[in-house]
Amino acid sequence: MAELKWWQKAVFYQIYPRSFADGNGDGIGDLRGMIQRLDYLQDLGIDAIWLSPHYPSPQFDCGYDIADYTDVAPEYGTLDDFREFLDGAHQRGIRVILDLVLNHTSHLHRWFIESSSSRDNPKRDWYIWRDGRDGGPPNNWYSTFGGSAWEYDARTDQYYYHFFFKQQPDLNWRNPEVRQAIWDAVRFWLDMGVDGFRLDAIGTIFEHPDLPDHPVQKSLVELGAAMEFASGPADREKLSKEWEAMFAYQVEQPGMHELMQELRSVIDEYDDRVLVGENEEIVYHGNGQNELHMVFNFPLMKTKQLTPDWIRANQQQRLAELAAVSPEAWPCNTLGNHDSPRVESRYGDGAHDDELARLHLAQMLTLRGTPFLYNGEEIGMTDLELQDISQFRDLMGVWVYHAVRDDLKLPAELALQRAAEASRDRARTPLQWVNAPNGGFSPAGVETWLPVNPNYAVGVNVADQEDDPHSLLNFYRQMLRLRKQTPALISGYYTSLHEEAADYLAFLRHVDADPFGGAGQTCLVALNFSEHSHTLSFNLKTRVARRRFSSSGRDGATDDMSRLDIGPFEAYVGELIS
Ligand code: GLC
Ligand code: CA
Repeated sequence: MAELKWWQKAVFYQIYPRSFADGNGDGIGDLRGMIQRLDYLQDLGIDAIWLSPHYPSPQFDCGYDIADYTDVAPEYGTLDDFREFLDGAHQRGIRVILDLVLNHTSHLHRWFIESSSSRDNPKRDWYIWRDGRDGGPPNNWYSTFGGSAWEYDARTDQYYYHFFFKQQPDLNWRNPEVRQAIWDAVRFWLDMGVDGFRLDAIGTIFEHPDLPDHPVQKSLVELGAAMEFASGPADREKLSKEWEAMFAYQVEQPGMHELMQELRSVIDEYDDRVLVGENEEIVYHGNGQNELHMVFNFPLMKTKQLTPDWIRANQQQRLAELAAVSPEAWPCNTLGNHDSPRVESRYGDGAHDDELARLHLAQMLTLRGTPFLYNGEEIGMTDLELQDISQFRDLMGVWVYHAVRDDLKLPAELALQRAAEASRDRARTPLQWVNAPNGGFSPAGVETWLPVNPNYAVGVNVADQEDDPHSLLNFYRQMLRLRKQTPALISGYYTSLHEEAADYLAFLRHVDADPFGGAGQTCLVALNFSEHSHTLSFNLKTRVARRRFSSSGRDGATDDMSRLDIGPFEAYVGELIS
């Protein structure tokens, strides 16, 4: 096996810049705040940062509507602040990748302002403009965020296409000038030393050139409501097929692989940079060397409960699929990000949330592949349900509120509840640093951009957990250190054991000795997702393991693999020695 690249060994940590740390006390996170917290991140033990968009933006989609690809949002700081952050991270051995939004710009990007100024503007074809049909939009396509995918522009009497909000017009990637302009921006950051990019929503980049109508008879609101009230798995399956049909001409269209190859060749002009796609399709690995380095294992997240059976089945399928693409197709696991509920809220059971949060981290750090963690999960931050529609910042929540109240004519309380469930704000609240007003994110009395979750006062904050050796934060630190010191956990092959076990997950991670001086190593991992104790008997050639980690109190330094007692919710890692 070739020596691993840095991004194969790394644990990534996603920073959501608006909510991570507020350096100037104005209620909005910023680069100064991030710079001040670099020591915290180093101490935590992560290796790389994925920074959600830090570019100038009118914030209709919380920064995923970029108004300038080569600058920094003024509320976050300056380009010099960014350089200081990047250098500070690098000095601590932490890499930084940026978020690159390819599908669309902000409607306030100067490219779009020019493009919409007249039909013969040289940048007209940088976006997707079409004539209307019978007094309406060019076809029946929806925006995934609600309403028609087409917005009428009275000045030039045409419609432009937007897969997301109308403030996010889609770029026309079939125009070579667009490619050049974005590749220039990519080089701008690579020249500065950033280590790569997370590619936003790549599946949406191309549309069917003939714009055929989708065949679904329901409206998007109707389909959404039907899914909400689906009567069972078969019904849900049928509705999700309709959903796919509704968007079939708007996603995963031909041309993507050539485009990703082009981007890869830009990246490969530089040493050792990485591309990770917001997509689960393994075809984006190309031949293993010519497209993306990683795509997320989103299928792992698509469940209400992370049971051992679910995780095992996911690993079996995913690892086999990746191996079939190429030995270079590297897995990449995550359980949460700024678009999904918080890990603790989503996969907790209400009674053992803390225990499960620990197991979920242990799972992330012991499965094969590069883990991506989301800021705040290390202290067990939970979803915040907003109480008032005026507090919502994610327009998706606002859209759901109006759709339920005004289109479906349901009561306002129900609309608010649905909106709170749909809104991504719940996982984007400010990081809770201390037990003080505003969780110490901003000074007392300052109105933060989203409300701070009041559970900072009951232990969900960094400072309290730093002082407590048994806190979730210290569990994260220990496990991150364990992983760093255990080659088998980083690069080892995965072999599932006890495949029938419903309560626990057991597997081996094994790495051979290598020509670069690395010794061989085999670890046995047992993760007990239940409140029952179990005595596990493994029929292995090596019977004794040196204990590397256990979340339960245990005696001695070694364990007998033919009789391993694991306690309720225990995470166990042992290294086979003789
Ligand atoms: C991605 C981002 C999400 C954003 C969307 C449109 O899915 O993660 O936050 O709203 O793309 O840019
Ligand atoms: Ca600030």
